Amino acid sequence: MRLNAFLARAGVASRRSADELIRERRVTVNGEAGEFNTVVGADDVVEVDGQRVEVQPLHYVLLNKPSGVVTTADDPQGRPTVVDLVSHATRVMPVGRLDVDTTGALLLTNDGELAHRLAHPSFGVPKVYDVDVVGSPSPDVLAALRSGIDLEDGRTAPAEARIVRRGTRVSRIELTIHEGRNQQVKRMCAAVGLPVEHLHRRRYAGLRLVGLDPGQWRELTPDEVASLRHTTGS
Ligand code: URA
Repeated sequence: MRLNAFLARAGVASRRSADELIRERRVTVNGEAGEFNTVVGADDVVEVDGQRVEVQPLHYVLLNKPSGVVTTADDPQGRPTVVDLVSHATRVMPVGRLDVDTTGALLLTNDGELAHRLAHPSFGVPKVYDVDVVGSPSPDVLAALRSGIDLEDGRTAPAEARIVRRGTRVSRIELTIHEGRNQQVKRMCAAVGLPVEHLHRRRYAGLRLVGLDPGQWRELTPDEVASLRHTTGS
């Protein structure tokens, strides 16, 4: 296996970030500086910054994130994190981010390469949100959400938006986006005059939460992992 693939499988970095580590001469193989074309086998000793790294079995976990939990490995404010919730023998890291008050589907993995691809906008991974907004969105507002909203970091890509329920004060929109910008849904809704009261991600890259209560998690099935790989051309 090539050195960058080995580092990705060891959970150190995505292949691209692994190339950076190799370029910076931070990786050694059997005591010699690793090169881009170095091939690594089971008996080779690979070190990054002098620390031994080994290929780990890959794990993929789907968490139903509850509100009040932060999407990070370590919170300086000491709040509970998604990594604390998933008491897995292998340290799995979140793919992308849900806000502290957002609930729903969050993937965690030690497969740095797949995580990198899933987060990359070129693959257009679908994320389906139930968005409870204050007000009753007009057809024009829904059309604007679908066609693209000008945000300070650029126009949003085409999305799907439909009304699930109209209420006297709060309505529910199902919004499917194919990007993962910071606070994208809340910013899109704010731009069309709809304050978000609650945000729940019902589906991520085809993964559903069926049977998982808030705070519960499960391993993905081999078919689900294969489907993620297919989606990202891995
Ligand atoms: N968009 C948001 O605004 N917040 C999230 O947590 C996810 C998507």
